[in-house]
Amino acid sequence: MTNRRKVALVTGAARGIGESVALVLAGRGFDVAVNDWNADGAEQTAEKIRQLGPKAIAVPGDVADSEIADDAVAKTVAQLGGLDVLVNNAGISGMSAITEMTDEQWHKMLSIHLYGTFYFCRAATPELIKNKHSKIINVSSIYGQTGEANFTHYSAAKAGILGFTKALAKELAPHLTNVNAIAPGWILTPLQQDVGLTQQQIDDLAEQVPFKYWAEADEVGYLVAFLASDEANFVTGQVYVINGGKPIVGI
Ligand code: NAI
Repeated sequence: MTNRRKVALVTGAARGIGESVALVLAGRGFDVAVNDWNADGAEQTAEKIRQLGPKAIAVPGDVADSEIADDAVAKTVAQLGGLDVLVNNAGISGMSAITEMTDEQWHKMLSIHLYGTFYFCRAATPELIKNKHSKIINVSSIYGQTGEANFTHYSAAKAGILGFTKALAKELAPHLTNVNAIAPGWILTPLQQDVGLTQQQIDDLAEQVPFKYWAEADEVGYLVAFLASDEANFVTGQVYVINGGKPIVGI
């Protein structure tokens, strides 16, 4: 590696968990490439990072498009000098009973979460394996482990990410590339507004969490920052659950 700062590429980083991950990594010395299909939001996160000191670029676009993934990695390497950490975070939510689920809903969920993760990992691998202990961190969900009613598409996509992560960890182990997943529980982000949760529903769900609250996105950022750091060099093929103590049953 030449004399440069480490570089991270974070997808879906205009807001929520992805934005927190990008800002926490920047605070720990990473230059950051910010992807999101909200191009203005990606640029705003990049600007916040530049205000902190590190370099940052926006690499906007839909993660479900493999050309966007190839382009994002190419621009990251060209403008920031390399790639050391990839965080596949971009995602959407949505609820539907199985009998109401349209082909479009199913394909969109799988395309963004599972295909998007694959496209970015495939594009990034040739760069990542140039350096020892580069890191891939894929954002799954506790629903990928437990499943959840009316979230069959989301649960399937997030479970797929776990299998993909474990397989890729083995495949890239000879290159000393670390591949891990995180499985967040309920984290307060704008996503809840998208699925129409009321404050009462949010409060009721918090009662099911032993810690009795929804985490802030930064708390996920800190976990990702650990997995992205040299302190996690011997950690690979794992799923880190961050959920305030809610037991995961059925796995
Ligand atoms: P959010 O909706 O606040 O942020 C998601 C970001 O991803 C947005 O900026 C959005 O524009 C972007 N995005 C969505 N689809 C995209 C695409 N196709 N291409 C590029 N960018 C795209 O959501 P949040 O809560 O920050 O979620 C981030 C990740 O964490 C998602 O993968 C989600 O499934 C996962 N997660 C969230 C949990 C929560 O309670 N908030 C729990 C478990 C997992």
